Amino acid sequence: MISQSFIQELLDRTDIVDVIERDVPLRRAGANYSACCPFHSEKTPSFTVSPTKQFYHCFGCGAHGNAIGFVMEYGGMHFVEAVNELAARVGLQVPVQQAETRPGSQPDSAQTKPQGTEGADGTEYSPGALLEAMKVAARFYREQLKLSKNAIDYLKQRGLTGATAARFGIGYAPAGWQNLHAPFSRQPENAGKRLLVQAGLMVESDGGKCYDRFRDRIMFPIVNLKGMIVGFGGRVLEKGEPKYLNSPETPLFQKGRELYNLFGARRAIREAGKVIVVEGYMDVVALSQHGIEYAVATLGTATTPYHIQKLLRQTDNIVFCFDADSAGKKAAWRALEDSLAQLADGKSISFLFLPEGEDPDSYIRTHGRSAFEKLLEQTLPLSVFLFRELSARADLKSSEGRAKLVQDAKPLLARIAAPGLALMLVKRLTEISGLSEQELEGILKIRRVTAFPVREKPSRPKPVSPYEWLLQVLLYNPACIEKLDRDLLTYNQEYEKEIAALAALVEFIDAHPHIGGSTWIPLTIAHFRNSPHRPLLEQAVSKTLGWDGEIDLEAEFAGAMARLHEMKRKQRMAVLHNKSLSALTLEERQELQRMAMP
Ligand code: UTP
Ligand code: MN
Repeated sequence: MISQSFIQELLDRTDIVDVIERDVPLRRAGANYSACCPFHSEKTPSFTVSPTKQFYHCFGCGAHGNAIGFVMEYGGMHFVEAVNELAARVGLQVPVQQAETRPGSQPDSAQTKPQGTEGADGTEYSPGALLEAMKVAARFYREQLKLSKNAIDYLKQRGLTGATAARFGIGYAPAGWQNLHAPFSRQPENAGKRLLVQAGLMVESDGGKCYDRFRDRIMFPIVNLKGMIVGFGGRVLEKGEPKYLNSPETPLFQKGRELYNLFGARRAIREAGKVIVVEGYMDVVALSQHGIEYAVATLGTATTPYHIQKLLRQTDNIVFCFDADSAGKKAAWRALEDSLAQLADGKSISFLFLPEGEDPDSYIRTHGRSAFEKLLEQTLPLSVFLFRELSARADLKSSEGRAKLVQDAKPLLARIAAPGLALMLVKRLTEISGLSEQELEGILKIRRVTAFPVREKPSRPKPVSPYEWLLQVLLYNPACIEKLDRDLLTYNQEYEKEIAALAALVEFIDAHPHIGGSTWIPLTIAHFRNSPHRPLLEQAVSKTLGWDGEIDLEAEFAGAMARLHEMKRKQRMAVLHNKSLSALTLEERQELQRMAMP
C-alpha cells in the first residue's frame, strides 16, 4: 500500500512535462505541449500535455492520464512500479507500509521493488542514493579546495573571487587515487565502491580495481533543474589531457540534457528576459562574477534539441555565444539546425560571435560588463545568420547560384514549425533569389506558405450532456461550485453515471475548499484513481486541456444549468402529460400550468 499523501507529494515534486519529455520530444503549443502520440501511430501531433493540469491527453486515440499514468502506459508498468520509478527519479523514498495481507489477495506492495541501498554486489543503487553520494562528494571537494594552496592560487590567477567560487560550489579533487574513501567511510567497504562507481565518481578498471575518477582537478558541480547535483566537470590545474573531464552518463546525468548553471541562472534569466549559451564552465563563472548571471553552458557537447527545448521553457530569447573560429561557426550552425523545429513564433534565437581569439571569459575580463552587453545588443538573428551562411555558399550573381541557395534552404525551411517565421524566411528568400513567391512555392513544394503545419487548437467538441459539461467546468475551475444548483444532482436514469461522478466531484470539492491552482487537477485525479468515476473525470479533464482564459466560464456554467433546468422541466412535463387529466392532483395541475407558461 502506498499512502495517498505520498502519491500527492510525488506528484507535487514531479513535472509531467519532464517525465514525458524523457521519452517523447515535446513542442510548445500555446499553454500546452504537443507531440505525435506515443501510443498510436500518427503524422500530425494530437498528443497534448498540460503543465498546469499535469495531465496528458491524446485527441487522436484518447490515451490520457497523469505522470504516473504515463509511466505505467509507456513503460508497461504496474501502478506501484511506476510510483517507484518516478520516486526514484526525484529522489524520494517510497515509504513501505505494512499491508494487511489477506490470503488470496494481491496487495500492491507485492510488486514493490526493494530500494537498493544495502549494497551487495550487483545492486543497482536508487537515484536517491546516487544523489546523496554526489552531495557528499561535492562537500568533500569544497573542503579540499580550502586545503589546497595550489588550487586556490589557480582560481585566483584566473580572476575568481572566493565568493564566486562558493556561489558555484567549486571544489578541488586532490591528487591521488583513493581519496574518496574517506568521506564515504561510513559505507561498508564494497558497498561504498559500488555506489561511487555507479555515481561516476570512481572508475573500475578491467581488473576490478576501483580508483577516483577525478584527481588533481578543479571541480564544477553540475546541478539539475531540481537543484540536485547530478554530475561534475573537472579541470586540470595547469596542462594536461583532457583539459576538462566530465562525469560519465549515469542514471542521474545525461550530458545532452543538462546545462551548466541553468538552475542557478533561472531567476536572472527571467529578469533579463534572455539566456546566453556559452561553451565553457569558466565562461559561465566569469560572466556571473561580472554581473551577467543569465549564462549557461553545454557540457562539452554540441547543443541538442533537448537543450533548446529546455531553454525555451525558461525564456523566449536565446543567445548562442560562440567563438569566431571555424569550430564555433560549426557549433552555431548545428544549434541553428536544431532550433528550427523548436521555434515558435514569438520566440527568438540569435547568435553572438566574439572577436577572433576571445571567449566570454577572456572578453569580459579584459573589456568589462558593459562592453559585453553592447555585443549582446548586436546579435545576429537566426534568419540573418541562416541566409548569411547560405549566401556565402552560393554565387548569388548567377542564376545557378541562386537556385542552389533555394535548394539549400529547402530542407531547412521544411523543418520550421513556426508559421510566422516560415513566412518571413520565404519572403526573404524571394528577395535574395529574385524568384516570385509563387515560383518559390513551386520549387519548395510548399502549397501555401501559411499552410505550414499550423496546429489547430484542439477544438472544444460539445459535450454529450450538460452534466458532462458541468463536470468539465468544475474541473477547470472548482470555484464555480458556488454557482452550482445542487437540485440538479437528483437522480436521472439517463444520466446516472454523469450525475454520480458530478456528485462525487462536488463532494470532493466541498471537502477540500482550499485546494486550487496547479495542484488541483493532479490531486483530484490521484484521489479518484480507484474510483468508478475515474474514466468520466479523466475524460472531462482531457476536454479542458485546450481551453484558455478567454472562455466565459460563468456564462457557460449558467448556460449548462439552464439547459439542465429545461431538461428537468421537460421530463416533468412529460410525466404529467402522460397521466390522464383525472389522475392529476390539484397541485400537479397547477404545476403543469406554471410550467407551460413561457
Ligand atoms: P575550451 O577548451 O574552449 O575551454 O572548452 P574553456 O572553457 O575556455 O576553458 P578554460 O578557459 O581553458 O578553462 C570549452 C568547454 O568544452 C568542454 C568543457 O565543457 C569546456 O568548458 N571541454 C573542453 C571538455 O569537456 N573537455 C575538454 O577536454 C575540453
Ligand atoms: Mn576559456
